[in-house]
Parts: sequence; structure tokens; C-alpha cells
Amino acid sequence: MKPRIFSGIQPSGNLHLGNYLGAIRNWVKLQDQYDSIFCVVDMHAITVPQDPTELRRRTIEVAKVYLASGIDPKKSTPFIQSHISEHAELAWILNTIAKIPELEKMTQFKDKAQKAGKESASVGLFDYPILMASDILLYDTELVPVGKDQLQHIELTRTLAERFNKKFGETFILPKAFTTKESENIMGLDDPTKKMSKSASSEYNYIALTDDEETVRRKIKKAVTDSGSEIVYSDDKPALKNLINIYSLLSEISPKEIEKKYVGKGYFDFKNDLADVVINFLQPLQKKIEELSDEKVLKILEDGAKKVQPIAKKKLEEVKNKIGFIG
Ligand code: TYM
Repeated sequence: MKPRIFSGIQPSGNLHLGNYLGAIRNWVKLQDQYDSIFCVVDMHAITVPQDPTELRRRTIEVAKVYLASGIDPKKSTPFIQSHISEHAELAWILNTIAKIPELEKMTQFKDKAQKAGKESASVGLFDYPILMASDILLYDTELVPVGKDQLQHIELTRTLAERFNKKFGETFILPKAFTTKESENIMGLDDPTKKMSKSASSEYNYIALTDDEETVRRKIKKAVTDSGSEIVYSDDKPALKNLINIYSLLSEISPKEIEKKYVGKGYFDFKNDLADVVINFLQPLQKKIEELSDEKVLKILEDGAKKVQPIAKKKLEEVKNKIGFIG
């Protein structure tokens, strides 16, 4: 039996290059070696307000991105989180062993709560990492391929798994995060100190996977750069380093070779070529997304739910039994 990976994306905004490079690209590479489960986490998305019609549309759209990017339903299992009620049930049980200060220190909660205004942040938003822990632990997951922003949540998942195992006996596998250095944190094009984000206030922060050619060119032209005019890959030039990372990851040309290619040239040429690289990546992806019908995708997601349901059911029964619920 292959070891298992699990990961997910929220259908809560426009998917962008950060989501693709930080997560999906690695999933596609890992799906041959691992028993792979990829979830569209709609229950996480509702921790901030969502329009119901938009949520439905985006849930299918995220699954389309998975498939168009190369997630193969013959190798991997995509499904919708809310189709498996065991996620919420296990989250409730894990709530009872998690401590309030552990959740209070979660950076994503602090950021999002600050954006919403602390008084209007939902209890769901606070509890979000516990639902994520239950996503992961239900399936005996060994590896969780994510971007850097999720590492703290995976650390908490390990803490909760260990605590449960100590109290009630060996039940959960302690999962490890999987990231790759160059892609774990793709930064905003408008500010290289903040990550590229679905919920950014300016569209100049991100390149959405649905952006058309004109939009990509406009956004890259406007992307902030560092002082100086040379194309060098260095920590002293965080904006340029981020753009070179994107270029390199999408073209498979190393940062060193990119530096060489632009000796004697400046930002203008570099940005023009970067726009070409991004457009050459996006256009075939967008074509594949368009070709996928909603019906076909929903059928794949339903089949996925049928496949993972027995795994979730078995693990939850084991948990309920261990804590003293009558089966
Ligand atoms: P979400 O929907 O915010 O993001 C989806 C994935 O994209 C990665 N990511 C990035 N990677 C690099 N650079 C960026 N700028 C960038 N922005 C986002 C995220 O790290 C993530 O891997 N809590 C999760 C969803 C989730 C989950 C899970 C993940 C729910 N349950 C179980 C793994 C396992 C989230 O909010 O992702």
C-alpha cells in the first residue's frame, strides 16, 4: 500500500499562481507515488461570509482547476468536504481536547479576524484549524503538501494527534508537511513582504488562474521591483526574487540561468518575457478548464466521496469507540 497524502483548497476567491505553485503543482508530481486525496474545502470557506450561488460555482471551479492542472481521477481522489459529514463530527471531538490559547496564536486567524474586525469574526473562523486537523487525521495522512502559510496548522494537527493518542491509545498518524523552498511562499506582486492572496484588496496583488492575456501583461508591468536595474536573484531584492521564482517555476529554467539570460538587459525585457511565460502557462490551463463540463466534474467529485467515505467512517468509529460513545 502506498502512503497517503491529503490536501485541500478553499473555494473562497480567485485561485492564483500562489495556490498553483505552492500546492497543486506539487500534488500533480506526488500523485504517482502516494495514495492521494484532494478536497475542495467548502466548510472552511464558510468561516467568512460567502454568497451561496458563488460558493456553488467556485466549488466546481476549484475542482476544475485540480483536473485541468493534471490531477488524474484514476490516480487521485478529489471530493467535496461537505459531502463527508465525518469531518465535522471529528472536528467536534477534537475541539474537546484543543486548548483556546493554541487557537488564539494561529497567525491565519489573527490576520483574518483583524480584516473582518475582531467583533465580527465567526467562531468558525476561530475553530478553522481544528476542522483542518480532522480533514487530515481522518484519512491516516502521512504527508500534507501545502504552502508555508499552512505549516502552523499542520503543527497543531500533530499536537492534537499526539494528545489524543496519549489519552486514548494509538489512533492517529502524525502527519508531516511537504513544501518546496522556491514555491512555498509566492509573494504579492504589489508588495513582496506579503504573500499572494485570494483575499487581497488589490487585484494587482495576484495573477489569477483565470486572468486573460491583457490582464497578465498589465499586472506584470505594474509589479513592484527593487532599486537598481540588474536582473539578480538575491534576498536583498525580494520583489525581483519573487518574479524570478515565478519565471523559473513555470519555465523550468533555473534562477541562475535566468540571471545569465538577462545580463546587460533590464526590467523591461525581463518583465515582457515573464508575461509571455505566465501566459503560455495559463492559456492551455484555461482551455482545459473550459472544456470540462459541470456535470462531468460533479460526477468525479461524487465518485471521489464514495471512495473516501468508508475510510472516514471507519476512523470516526474507532475514535468514538475509544472515547466511550456507545456504537
Ligand atoms: P487556501 O485555500 O488558503 O490555499 C490553498 C493552498 O495554496 C497555498 N498557498 C500558497 N502557496 C504559496 N504561496 C502563496 N502565496 C500561497 N497562497 C496560498 C496554501 O498554503 C494552500 O496549500 N487551510 C487550507 C485549506 C485546507 C487544507 C486542509 C490544506 C483545509 N483543510 C487539509 C491541507 C490539508 C487553506 O486555507 O488553503
